[in-house]
Amino acid sequence: MDCFTPLILPSLLAADFSNVAAEVKRAEDAGAQWLHLDVMDGNFVDNISFGPAMIEAVKRHTDMFLDVHLMIQRADHFLDRFIKAGAGNISVHVEARYDTSLLSTLQRIKSAGLSAGLVLNPSTPFEAAIPYLHLIDLLLIMTVVPGFGGQPFMEKETMPKLAAARDYREAHGLKYHLQVDGGIYVTTAPIARQHGANLFVAGTSSFGPPDMKASMAALAESVK
Ligand code: DX5
Ligand code: ZN
Repeated sequence: MDCFTPLILPSLLAADFSNVAAEVKRAEDAGAQWLHLDVMDGNFVDNISFGPAMIEAVKRHTDMFLDVHLMIQRADHFLDRFIKAGAGNISVHVEARYDTSLLSTLQRIKSAGLSAGLVLNPSTPFEAAIPYLHLIDLLLIMTVVPGFGGQPFMEKETMPKLAAARDYREAHGLKYHLQVDGGIYVTTAPIARQHGANLFVAGTSSFGPPDMKASMAALAESVK
């Protein structure tokens, strides 16, 4: 696949937690290549999901690329545990607190041989990402306020920022993927596609329907 081929990433947050191994297999059988894993600490966001033990358990059941989205404070303190657990990409928030710094956290992710992602909340301007863009593999533009699945896509607040991130990438010869996360459905994914996204995180709209193969195919078709 070329660098910016559109890809649908199911988010495990919307899976049945009582049957994770089967849910991971359902995503794999539905054609997912990347699985998105939402780590929440009850501090950076108002919800608690799971930690490195879950990443490690999932890793034992799949060859999918594990895309770990850290919605936590002090990601640098916990970083080695997520690397050891089998993450393929680790994304960290520009708004979060670090014991060291965001810059050195991204550098450590890269030095470990992983893909490094940076995340912007809906209210954070694109400019906040500029000092880090030369380092990262992926820029995630949140399309909801993070913390919960099932929220509506914030088109007006986030699409101009996504387009700005795409235009900046083209103007400066940079290479980061553009990812969107939150409220992604067959109706909203094409809007994000038009504004430059190529990685589409989908929770409710992928794991939600009983026929995940069909829901993934419909999402993929919508961003072709
Ligand atoms: C939101 C998470 C998302 C979430 C998306 O805080 O970062 O990854 O799983 O869920 P949906 O697709 O249901 O909006
Ligand atoms: Zn996420």
